[in-house]
Amino acid sequence: MRIAYADPPYIGCAHLYRGRPDYAGEVDHARLIARLQRDYDGWILHAAATPESFAVLAPLIRPTGARWMAWVKGFAAFKRNVPVAWAWEPVIVKPARKPVVSKRLVMRDWIQESITLRRGLTGAKPEAVCHWAFEMVAARPDDTLDDLFPGTGAVTKAWANWRLKFALPADPGAATVPAAAP
Ligand SMILES: C[S@@+](CC[C@H](N)C(=O)[O-])C[C@H]1O[C@@H](n2cnc3c(N)ncnc32)[C@H](O)[C@@H]1O
Repeated sequence: MRIAYADPPYIGCAHLYRGRPDYAGEVDHARLIARLQRDYDGWILHAAATPESFAVLAPLIRPTGARWMAWVKGFAAFKRNVPVAWAWEPVIVKPARKPVVSKRLVMRDWIQESITLRRGLTGAKPEAVCHWAFEMVAARPDDTLDDLFPGTGAVTKAWANWRLKFALPADPGAATVPAAAP
């Protein structure tokens, strides 16, 4: 299956990335969501919790059947003149397949994880958030994941590490087994 991880500049926030080589103004979210639907079996889209973001995205997301989930930030960018911090954001997920869990396990449609610091890029994603998102999209290690807005490359790195969890350990005896006699 093909999965996309879309972590674009949030609606109204493209200016934060002015000067970066991949900066191209505001992202057209209607085009982006159409692309996600057309080219991928499952996808993840990060967004802001601002009124404008909800107003633009809600009508675009509704026909896709994707689900609104949440990244809650224990530590966020607390600003002196903002009495109520912006400390959560929507993560919109269209699963590639039905998630399989054991009978006793239930997954949550939210994660609490603090923001990253000192990564040199606003909005770099923590590995734990990426790993949670991979579970929400019901990824499997043999899927392909396209990191559409790579920034620091944190998502691609998180994917590589997540897949490693499923790698079978090397057979310790394999190298020492003598070849069979002819
Ligand atoms: C939220 S950051 C991605 C962060 C990344 N997931 C990470 O963990 O490091 C958004 C990225 O999109 C880039 N960008 C800005 N404007 C863009 C545009 N119009 N089209 C494509 N990419 C853009 C930014 O330079 C930035 O690298």
